[in-house]
Amino acid sequence: MSALRLGDTAPDFTAQTSEGEINFHEWLGDSWGILFSHPADYTPVCTTELGTVAKYTEQFKKRNVKVAALSVDGVESHHGWIKDINETQNTTVNFPIIADEDRKVATLYDMIHPKADNTLTVRSVFVIGADKKIKLILIYPASTGRNFDELVRVIDSLQLTAYQKLATPANWKNGDDCVVSPAIKTEDIPTLFPKGHTVIKPYLRTTPQPDIK
Ligand code: BEZ
Repeated sequence: MSALRLGDTAPDFTAQTSEGEINFHEWLGDSWGILFSHPADYTPVCTTELGTVAKYTEQFKKRNVKVAALSVDGVESHHGWIKDINETQNTTVNFPIIADEDRKVATLYDMIHPKADNTLTVRSVFVIGADKKIKLILIYPASTGRNFDELVRVIDSLQLTAYQKLATPANWKNGDDCVVSPAIKTEDIPTLFPKGHTVIKPYLRTTPQPDIK
């Protein structure tokens, strides 16, 4: 199959996980989702990544985001490794780790890049909206642990811009000024964004981040 692209529906699947069998779309329900792969259980970088995700539970919950991890190891291996993650990272893994031994999900999501590794998954991240559409794809090499603050930042931007005619500029963080969508006429900005606005160029207009309604 061809590689997934932004706007595609996240492929559905049924899989065994460390928390039992899940049907992905049913499990997501009305939530946003993060599906992320890691190369293998009992490896150092992956251990820190999964421990970090567990520590971000409240951040993801606040944003209505469910998280699932995936590697090509089996359920028994996941259970043993979760004990190590909890012990060494001082946390409690409370999200499912998919046991994709037959590489069904990894193939659906194009998570195996043979020139990087023939059998193991790379570090892929898919952010999926409440509409089940893919909103973000990141692909990292095995040697680089991911930055989960960046994922939270992007989800804040995605959720803001999904509901408001805004975009977010370089290095934006939640609470910073936003960019008004080019589709909005400058004369219509005060009605849409009453907190004020600045016209830097006719195509570059900023406004304070609106309050969440
Ligand atoms: C790790 O998670 O530490 C790792 C996994 C595969 C290759 C290199 C590092």
